[in-house]
Amino acid sequence: MEFDNYASHLPIFEKVFATFEIKKVLEFGLGKFSTPFFVNHAELVVSVEQESKEWYERIKAQINAANWRPVFQPDPQVVFGQCDANNQTLDLVFSDGAAQTRCLVANQAMERNVPVVVLHDAEKVWYYQWNLLSIPANYARFNFRHRKDANKVTTILVNANQSILEQWDIPDHDRILQAYSSPCQPVIQLRYDEVRGLLGKPNSIP
Ligand SMILES: C[S@@+](CC[C@H](N)C(=O)[O-])C[C@H]1O[C@@H](n2cnc3c(N)ncnc32)[C@H](O)[C@@H]1O
Repeated sequence: MEFDNYASHLPIFEKVFATFEIKKVLEFGLGKFSTPFFVNHAELVVSVEQESKEWYERIKAQINAANWRPVFQPDPQVVFGQCDANNQTLDLVFSDGAAQTRCLVANQAMERNVPVVVLHDAEKVWYYQWNLLSIPANYARFNFRHRKDANKVTTILVNANQSILEQWDIPDHDRILQAYSSPCQPVIQLRYDEVRGLLGKPNSIP
């Protein structure tokens, strides 16, 4: 398949759906990649468009599926509030919507202990304010960087099965670690296998 910058997350979702039992999906930022994928793989998909009515209508006209609920709502807190009111449990939340609320979406999902939370464009720390992520102690963070566009990072936050993710091999991606000088300042990114290699050979660390 030809590389498409905007579809760098799809191989990750294939792996996520093969690993976890994902039935109910809530995504922010609907589009031609993630939305059809979710509709084809999950039992129920709620897709929230926050910004463009035109985009919302365009995608709505392209997808006709009984398990799909498109919603236009700028405020994620309204959407999560409606899920709470309906006792709606979620298996996966995807944060790919309005820049100013991407971090809020992830935090709201983790507050509700959603098992899998996926962040698109995790490399743009300041633009999306990912430094404001509030990751509870029971979650682990896994970052995957696309090899053909090393700047594209998709992050998975999971509250179980971390050991399975440790062993994932996604051919087009490298696992990376983000090292922080403080909780809010990412300073470097290291390839996970290189770090493991170093740790396996103590004499090679100066
Ligand atoms: C990155 S896109 C979402 C992509 C989607 N999650 C996917 O994987 O296919 C995020 C947002 O960009 C905006 N957007 C993208 N393309 C647009 C267009 N051609 N016209 C208007 N808005 C657009 C929409 O508001 C959309 O929700």
